[in-house]
Amino acid sequence: MLIDTDHLHFWIQAIRQSPDPMRTMDAFWQGQLSSKEWLISSLNCWIDDFVTVDIHGGWVGVLASLLFQSETGPSYKHIRSVDIDPTCEPIATMMNKKEEISGRFRAVTADMCNIRSDANVIINTSCEHITQNQFDLWKTGMPYNSLLVLQSNNYDIPEHVRTASSLEEFKNQCNINVSWAGELKLPLYTRYMVIGKNNESK
Ligand SMILES: C[S@@+](CC[C@H](N)C(=O)[O-])C[C@H]1O[C@@H](n2cnc3c(N)ncnc32)[C@H](O)[C@@H]1O
Repeated sequence: MLIDTDHLHFWIQAIRQSPDPMRTMDAFWQGQLSSKEWLISSLNCWIDDFVTVDIHGGWVGVLASLLFQSETGPSYKHIRSVDIDPTCEPIATMMNKKEEISGRFRAVTADMCNIRSDANVIINTSCEHITQNQFDLWKTGMPYNSLLVLQSNNYDIPEHVRTASSLEEFKNQCNINVSWAGELKLPLYTRYMVIGKNNESK
């Protein structure tokens, strides 16, 4: 995937201005970037042009920036990145400065379990960071029949409160109408992804 110098400039600014630059750079580990490129290429055939997207657990906004820069697939009308950690909001805003200026990006500090969404597509690549109860509650706040894009992994570290040991287990945890599911083997862990429609009604 090609990254242009305008975006690169804002990425470096975001890292430079963040309170803990090394922590911000964790979002650029090879496994993190590969998982996001995999998500973007898998998602392309499931969505129309000019969709609105919510990214829950959006961290420092790298996925949003990669979606905006993707040269294949649709263009994105608006992306909102939601994270419970207040330090993420200014970093994600700088990471996506170009689109924030043009009104196509907004970072928000909120608990994904307490926020409602009216986006066409809702992405949650932080499923391993919330418990099953939180996930079930989160899903009830998403519009019925919206397209959900969910990622988790089998990487057991203290901050991962709900990993999955197989793709089948992750599908069961998600409990949505699955359109597509797959796994990506990375050096330290396997990433699982499920794309499908939300079967919960509000
Ligand atoms: C390490 S990061 C991202 C990991 C993920 N694999 C990815 O690449 O997107 C996990 C993020 O989820 C956020 N998070 C955890 N619980 C959350 C919640 N209830 N609502 C919103 N964000 C949450 C954390 O603050 C953190 O920024």
